[in-house]
Amino acid sequence: MVHITSRWVSVLFSKDKSLNQDHAVLQMAFKEGQLPLLTPYKMRQFELSHRVVLAPLTRQRSYGNIPQPHAILYYSQRTTKGGFLISEATCVSETARGYLDTPGIWTKEQVEAWKPIVDAVHAKGGIFFCQLWHAGRVSNTGFQPNGQAPISSTDKGLSNQVQSNDIDVAQFTPPRKLTTQEIPLVVDDFRVAARNAIEAGFDGVEIHGAHGYLVDQFMKDEVNDRTDEYGGSLENRCRFALEIVDGIVKEIGADRVGLRLSPFANYMESGDSNPKALGLYMAESLNKYKILYCHMVEPRMKTAGEKFYSPHSLVPMRKAFKGTFISAGGYDMEDGNNAVAENRTDLVAYGRLFLANPDLPKRFELNAPLNKYNRETFYTPDPVLGYTDYPFLETTS
Ligand SMILES: Cc1cc2nc3c(=O)[nH]c(=O)nc-3n(C[C@H](O)[C@H](O)[C@H](O)COP(=O)(O)O)c2cc1C
Repeated sequence: MVHITSRWVSVLFSKDKSLNQDHAVLQMAFKEGQLPLLTPYKMRQFELSHRVVLAPLTRQRSYGNIPQPHAILYYSQRTTKGGFLISEATCVSETARGYLDTPGIWTKEQVEAWKPIVDAVHAKGGIFFCQLWHAGRVSNTGFQPNGQAPISSTDKGLSNQVQSNDIDVAQFTPPRKLTTQEIPLVVDDFRVAARNAIEAGFDGVEIHGAHGYLVDQFMKDEVNDRTDEYGGSLENRCRFALEIVDGIVKEIGADRVGLRLSPFANYMESGDSNPKALGLYMAESLNKYKILYCHMVEPRMKTAGEKFYSPHSLVPMRKAFKGTFISAGGYDMEDGNNAVAENRTDLVAYGRLFLANPDLPKRFELNAPLNKYNRETFYTPDPVLGYTDYPFLETTS
């Protein structure tokens, strides 16, 4: 059992009125010697037994865009009773693809293939959301139906980019700017994908609005150069994201919808001149739709996989958003405990540490050493290597 540091004690017993009702749970946990990250949390209808979330992680092992049986083991290894898991980014349509062997959820076959994976997570008591994704211009003609150009908010091309394993270089072809009339059709692809996710058994969906993919390509002013009602002002740039939220909320209900954002990141040439205003505008706008959670990537993550110093913080957005707040990006155990204890977030999503440590919550509980992740196997197609072969605590010598 890990001892709670004196820093947490002072936070937990402070008279700070900004601390919410959760404070009582944390105080109780302290008395019982529990880590803040391992305290229970009620996310509306979902009773989470701890706050260590599996971050969405693309693994490129869904051959031909079909989820594979090996994902049953991968996800169930990372499932705990009452644990919250977010799936890898899952394509909402044929045009959404940008990388090899990422799963989809637009065909019946894909929906059927997800079912045993979702069932396995449920069998172990996990709560599982599907991350819905459209890569937009982060694609090339090779991934597109009939070899057409990828679609985006813009027709500005991307230069070739190093992937988040810092090894692979992705190649892109210039996108085609969506016409105003086409945009509702793409919004509808997200709605149908959300319906399919529920059909597959997922407990809800997370809209991927981060890391320079299609939704982000509309929000960020480095990318969006439109002159119609989807470009220019902050309100216009966020319209596409909020129409997707609206469409999905109407389809499956607000209690099953989360949104992931990375206002501060400039991954895939998607920076913004005023990320704080963007993050705040989105956090406040989301309140109108009463969605379940807002998941934000820390400003220190300029890319999807590397940590930098940043003077900025997510606290203003955390305060502005009324639902559950999830923070991600560069967290270790200490940092995650502090963020929860200081009420800077409700839940913490772990990416690379969870990828390499299927029993991450247990290791935190025991303050056990962590397996190191191997970047070289993040995206290799092997169904075992670097995927389901990271050892559990009992098997680590
Ligand atoms: C291998 C890998 C795959 C990723 N895939 C996704 C993804 O599918 N969707 C997404 O929103 N973020 C993705 N990310 C970003 C992670 O969810 C997370 O934000 C990032 O790794 C930083 O968190 P960490 O420091 O805990 O790893 C990926 C990152 C890595 C390293």
